[in-house]
Amino acid sequence: MIKVERLLINYKTLEMFKRFKEYGHQELSMLEDLQNKIVENNSESPFYGIYYGNNLIARMSLYEINKKYDYYFEPQQDYLTLWKLEVLPDYQGRGYGKRLVEFAKEFRLPIKTNPRINSHGFWEKMGFQKAHYEMERDLGENPLIWLPEGVQEKEIIK
Ligand SMILES: CC(C)(COP(=O)(O)OP(=O)(O)OC[C@H]1O[C@@H](n2cnc3c(N)ncnc32)[C@H](O)[C@@H]1OP(=O)(O)O)[C@@H](O)C(=O)NCCC(=O)NCCS
Repeated sequence: MIKVERLLINYKTLEMFKRFKEYGHQELSMLEDLQNKIVENNSESPFYGIYYGNNLIARMSLYEINKKYDYYFEPQQDYLTLWKLEVLPDYQGRGYGKRLVEFAKEFRLPIKTNPRINSHGFWEKMGFQKAHYEMERDLGENPLIWLPEGVQEKEIIK
């Protein structure tokens, strides 16, 4: 069984994040917070990842959205947003991406993600579906959703 870990905010983790393509504001602001001691060393980040030996080879960010802001699901409820799912090139196609998505599903909450171009085949395999596009909600995004048992996509009332 591939182990998924909650990633801690420390210099070592932030250094490993540099290997990922989707490195940007989120990582830099975590680094600044650490430098300015706004967060403590080893406090929990929103990232989960998989190590191969000492190397972080796959990661995703996962965040729980409060029910109040749920415009996607029926009944209205807390849900997870998943982003920055990425497996380093040398380790792709070996089940690590799938393992991270399965880990997210284990919370038994609906999940929303915005897929990158070319990853639709993967998400389809993971059981995600396109949310009906609603301009005011989704703007330029093309969100995909995963529904646990007993949950439906919210109907759009025009
Ligand atoms: C997309 C990504 C997260 C998938 O993770 P991964 O570890 O490589 O994928 P897995 O090995 O867990 O694959 C799980 C299943 O999805 C399938 N799959 C993976 N990527 C796929 C894709 N782009 N299209 C269709 N199916 C795909 C696998 O064949 C596998 O199927 P199986 O369970 O029947 O064997 C990862 O490849 C990645 O980070 N890619 C970065 C670049 C990118 O976004 N590429 C998009 C594809 S070009």
